[in-house]
Amino acid sequence: MSFRNLGECRPEPMLSMIKCFANDRRNGKMDLGVGVYQDARGHTPVLDAVKCAEAQVLSTQSTKAYLGGDGNSEFVALLGAEAFGPAPGLAGLQTIGGTGALRLAADLLARAMPARRIWIGTPTWANHAPLLQAAGLRVSPVELDCSGASGRLRHQALLDALDEADAGDAFLVQACGHNPTGCDPEPEFWRALADVTIARGLVPLVDMAYQGLARGWSADAAPVAPLLERVPCLLIAYSCDKSFALYRERVGALYFRGANGAETARLRDHLISIARVSYSMPSDHGAATVRAVLENPRLRAAWGRELDAARERVADVRIRLARRGRIGALDLGSIADGRGLFARLDLGSEAIARLQVDHAIYLAPSGRINLAGLSDRNLDRFVAALGEIQRRSAA
Ligand code: LMR
Repeated sequence: MSFRNLGECRPEPMLSMIKCFANDRRNGKMDLGVGVYQDARGHTPVLDAVKCAEAQVLSTQSTKAYLGGDGNSEFVALLGAEAFGPAPGLAGLQTIGGTGALRLAADLLARAMPARRIWIGTPTWANHAPLLQAAGLRVSPVELDCSGASGRLRHQALLDALDEADAGDAFLVQACGHNPTGCDPEPEFWRALADVTIARGLVPLVDMAYQGLARGWSADAAPVAPLLERVPCLLIAYSCDKSFALYRERVGALYFRGANGAETARLRDHLISIARVSYSMPSDHGAATVRAVLENPRLRAAWGRELDAARERVADVRIRLARRGRIGALDLGSIADGRGLFARLDLGSEAIARLQVDHAIYLAPSGRINLAGLSDRNLDRFVAALGEIQRRSAA
């Protein structure tokens, strides 16, 4: 027996970029690629409140015995209340990061939906479609780009497409800090989305990965409220990676609600059975840490201040970059309209490769930049590199 029948497997772009950046020995290299918060020195710190909570977890934990398929239920309940406020009938379970929550949700939808169809606005996070397809779903992409206005999105196109969807279809939307554009829909979009969901009998899958980093903690959850208040059946994949800066601990939850209590209980049984044949149970450290932050008013307040400071720093970088205006054909001004970590630059793959090879500046293949990678330290150099690339492509 050998594995020679396996063909080549192309490395996933984001994971290979993380590796390539780590191996790059050039001074002043800039990581504007991976969606991780960095402070003004380019460092991704462990938050002080999280450090204290971790110390508390380590000093008080008396056992490492299994918690069971739901993971850390206290974490799930505290986080759900903190994120959404009272949400009648909403249940949840712990997952391996937000990606783990998305995958569990996708597997559940594949089990539940005969047509296995899910609608998704594009551009979106590069891993969304591959993940949904890996679960056996049929992805129907809806183009949201406005021609000629880089970075702007026409979210209405998704509403128009859903108006034609079949009963029982699902759709995926991002709650806040749109990845890769930073261009979130207006509140009217969310009300109209709840209307079409109910009218057509659809199932929403909300991806919520950046709460607190776009407009603020409560404001970032507000878009989901019309769905939570009016739509009976829904799924929300939640990531704590960014909001608690716990990236490598992979902390997340999947919140879910069926048409009634019995159906919600059945959803839980299915989700636990799907997880059981994959990774069995999630690991606890990150979830126990978030729980320790949220149940201690002093740590809760300290964490909230750290999160606010991170958001404000990125918003400030956004404004300062947008003020640079036009660089050749590139209009940085529209970046000002976005929220959260990301903006997308209208650069072709050649220009993105040149930034990496010639300037040690790493962008996601979509032209997405992580604004948190910029500060006084390197903003001028970034703009100069963009200018050089633009001049070269115009020559
Ligand atoms: C990102 O979008 O950069 C992050 O969510 C990291 C990842 O897994 O892609």
